[in-house]
Amino acid sequence: MSAAVNAGDALNFDAIIDAFYQHGWVWLPNFLSAELNSALLHEAQHEAELTPAGIGRLGDHQLNQQVRRDATQWFDGQSNAQQHYLALMAQLQTVFNRRCFLGLFDFECHFARYRQGDYYQKHVDAFSGRSNRVLTTVSYLNSVSRGGELALYNEHDQLIDKFLPTAGSLILFESERFPHAVLPAIDTRYSIAGWFRKNASINGVLDPAS
Ligand code: OGA
Ligand code: MN
Repeated sequence: MSAAVNAGDALNFDAIIDAFYQHGWVWLPNFLSAELNSALLHEAQHEAELTPAGIGRLGDHQLNQQVRRDATQWFDGQSNAQQHYLALMAQLQTVFNRRCFLGLFDFECHFARYRQGDYYQKHVDAFSGRSNRVLTTVSYLNSVSRGGELALYNEHDQLIDKFLPTAGSLILFESERFPHAVLPAIDTRYSIAGWFRKNASINGVLDPAS
């Protein structure tokens, strides 16, 4: 069985959970309504102040630029579109906690823009010393004709598939299990990358509270 859930099934939570349970990742080609997609895209293109992204806790800008070249802005939850998106994510959080016992505690996300030549080298979505990112979500806000594919790898570093961004699609995958990369963009590409986190206590410090 493929881990792609077909058009029309986008909010069929049973199909999403089944595919996720089996594969640890799921691609939903029609997750966002056209209306919400265009409101979020408009914000990413015209209102967000996108700035060069950082990586984890590294402070070295030049090193960062070798690893990733996207520009990002974290959600502030102020606009209707952001609130609507966060409400959808809260729905997913509830379903995943109920059905997969993931203990998801909160959600953080940012807009991202990749212009021609921008990329994100192969990586795993966890900060060293913190293992509280459980589930990664990426929503794609525009369709590109080429470039900017998400390359997803398995635990053995074998390529699972390459996904060409299409407007309204969403991919979900287990954050620490699947290395992935964004291949160099050709068309400008807008997305929302997000992470559900669990409540991790490291050295007695409750992390999501920080
Ligand atoms: C990330 C990331 C993938 C994508 O932001 O950590 O891997 O397809 N994004 O945008
Ligand atoms: Mn990533």
